[in-house]
Amino acid sequence: MKDKLMLMIPGPTPVPESALLAMARGPIEHRSKDFTAILEEVTDGLRWLHQTTSDVFVFSASGTGAMEAGILNTLSPGERVLVGVNGKFGERWAEMSEQFGLNCERIETPWGIPYPVEIFQEKLAADHEKTIKAVILTHSETSSGVANDVQAIAAAARAHGEALVIVDGVTSVGAMPVLMDEWGLDVVASGSQKGYMIPPGLGFVAVSERAMAASQRSTFPKYYWSFELAQKSLKQGTTPFTPAVNLFYALQMTLQMMRAEGLEAIYQRHAKLAQATRAGVKALGLKLLVEPESAASPAVTAVMAPEGINADMIRSVLKKQFDLATAAGQDHLKGKIFRIGHLGFISDRDVLMTMATLEAALHTVGYSEFTPGAGTRAAADVLAHS
Ligand SMILES: Cc1ncc(COP(=O)(O)O)c(C=O)c1O
Repeated sequence: MKDKLMLMIPGPTPVPESALLAMARGPIEHRSKDFTAILEEVTDGLRWLHQTTSDVFVFSASGTGAMEAGILNTLSPGERVLVGVNGKFGERWAEMSEQFGLNCERIETPWGIPYPVEIFQEKLAADHEKTIKAVILTHSETSSGVANDVQAIAAAARAHGEALVIVDGVTSVGAMPVLMDEWGLDVVASGSQKGYMIPPGLGFVAVSERAMAASQRSTFPKYYWSFELAQKSLKQGTTPFTPAVNLFYALQMTLQMMRAEGLEAIYQRHAKLAQATRAGVKALGLKLLVEPESAASPAVTAVMAPEGINADMIRSVLKKQFDLATAAGQDHLKGKIFRIGHLGFISDRDVLMTMATLEAALHTVGYSEFTPGAGTRAAADVLAHS
């Protein structure tokens, strides 16, 4: 049905009406006091969201652009980096690092299994010559629904003393704690179409003082992505290039909404929605990809399709019959899993509707090894008691 699509994917996520309406205005001159006021308010909100006193730069880009900016500004060709790989987005970090000629050491675990923190700790502790220049991590691995222990690895990097901590926070910022200063993170990259609750188009990079100092030494060529240019402009209340003015209107609105809800409440809401989703799918006899469940991301849940049923058939029924979009499995998990996003502008009701429609879709594709209503009931129980 036209205009009825319900997005339960890990991005783009639903956009509140107030943010959509905020964008439905003519753009203003970006070299103006009015835009400076918006930029300053938004920058303040971004610092709050990342729990940092450092700068957060906004690029007109998707999250991958923000990730690339992080690498290009803080490192130099040939430098040794440890890259955590347990899904599609860790792969992306590794590919990017290799493409730029970094000496990339992958620390791999299968998709669905969290990073082996002790391997990072051992490698950092053994590196007396300080050859490791960065650990590059994915916080919430959207392809598999794992939340990696970035905090523990960052602590090991801080003890090492030299290695920067570069983090993909694309589906963690605005969903779970990303305590940039307290944890000692140096670069956190993210994108607007996720926990920020606005459409795609803005890439965010939070940059520590250490990372800014590293940017003075970095020899990668850069222009559009330059942190130095971004910082110089930000100090003057402006951006180096034309910003996506209308997306800033929307961001101003959603950051106000986030402030009103409060950070702790945002984290708790996501944790509760994720727990309810996991309880619901398990009550339907379906298995989660993530192991152990305590490592599950609060932003997205990866669900294994029942034996003999293609996950994309389930997704197809959900979409065609119920106007509900879920995400597919990627690479080797295509057809084997489907992913339910519960990130950003999502409420209890959305999870209950997802469970009810999932039950109906499972019936349609020929799987009914569950008590009717069991998934909705289990999710409702979690929602009622947390
Ligand atoms: C964890 C993670 N990293 C990176 C990206 C890439 O972001 P974008 O598609 O905005 O470039 C995504 C997008 O889904 C993601 O979930």
